[in-house]
Amino acid sequence: MGQIQLGQYGPASHVIAHISDTHFLSAGKPLYGTVDTDTPVHEALAQLERSGQPIDALVFTGDIADTGEAAAYRRIRDLVESAADRLGARVVWVMGNHDKRAPFRSELLGETGYGASAAEPVDAVHDLDGLRLIVLDTSVPGYHHGMLTAGQLKWLAEVLSEPAPHGTLLALHHPPIPTMVPLMSLLELRDQAGLAEVVAGSDIRGILGGHLHYATTGMFAGVPVSVAAATCYTIDPSAPARELTGVRGGQSINLVHVYPESIVHSHVVLGDFDPATRFDSAFLARIEAMSPDERTEAFSRQA
Ligand SMILES: [Fe+2]
Ligand SMILES: [Fe+2]
Repeated sequence: MGQIQLGQYGPASHVIAHISDTHFLSAGKPLYGTVDTDTPVHEALAQLERSGQPIDALVFTGDIADTGEAAAYRRIRDLVESAADRLGARVVWVMGNHDKRAPFRSELLGETGYGASAAEPVDAVHDLDGLRLIVLDTSVPGYHHGMLTAGQLKWLAEVLSEPAPHGTLLALHHPPIPTMVPLMSLLELRDQAGLAEVVAGSDIRGILGGHLHYATTGMFAGVPVSVAAATCYTIDPSAPARELTGVRGGQSINLVHVYPESIVHSHVVLGDFDPATRFDSAFLARIEAMSPDERTEAFSRQA
C-alpha cells in the first residue's frame, strides 16, 4: 500500500487530519435552529476511515462546542474518540472563542478539579513521533476576538528554544493572517507582533488555524498558515463585499501531509459525490509492477 515510490518524493513522515469549528450543542440541537452540526463530523470521520490512510492525529482547531456546554463536549468526544481508536490516531483539541475552559478541560481533556488553573489558557505540547505539535489557546474569556498573553508567548519561546527532530506545527484557533471579511477582522488575533517575534527563526514549519469558517492560506513571520473551513457551516468568501454570510454547504476538512521537504495541506470536501473517473488499486498494482519507463508509457503518454 503506497510502498513503491512512483514520483520524486518519498512517503509522508506524518499525516494529520485538521478539522475545525464543529460548534456542537447539547442533545444534538441544530445550530441557529437549522444547522445540523453532527452529520458533517460523522462524514469527516467516515471519509478518513474509508481512505485507509494512516492518520497520526486528529487536530480540532477550536470552536468545538458552540456555547461551551459540558454535554456538547461529551457528545463530540465520544464520537471522535471511538473513530480515533479505530484509526489509531491521537486526538488533539484546541480552544476557540466559543469554547469554555473549565468544561473543555474536564470533558475533552479529562482533567479533574475546577481550581484556579481551570481558568488558565489551555496550552499544550504533543510529540507525534518527533513532530512537535504546540497548541496555543488564543481565546479571551467573554469575547470572540483572540489574544495571547505575555506569559503564553514566554512559554512558547521556552518550548521552541529546543528544536524538535521533525520540526514544529503550531495549532491555534484565531489564525494570524488577514481576512477579507470585515466583521471577521474585528474578531482576529490581536497584537500579532509579539507572536511573530517568537515564531520567526524558530523550527515552526506550519501554523494550523480555524475560526474563519472558510479554507484559506497565508504567511506569518515566514511560516505558512493553513486554515481549515468549518464542519458546521461555512462563511462564503464570495458573498457581497460588506456582508458576512454563513451558508449550509462547502464544509471540508484538511489532510496535512508532513514530508521532510514540505508540508502539504489538502482540502477534503465532506459528502458523497458520484465518481467521474476511477483507477482502482489493482490498476495501481499493475503500474507498480512495471519499470519506470513502462510506467511513463502506460500512464503518462497521451492516447
Ligand atoms: Fe467558529
Ligand atoms: Fe471562532
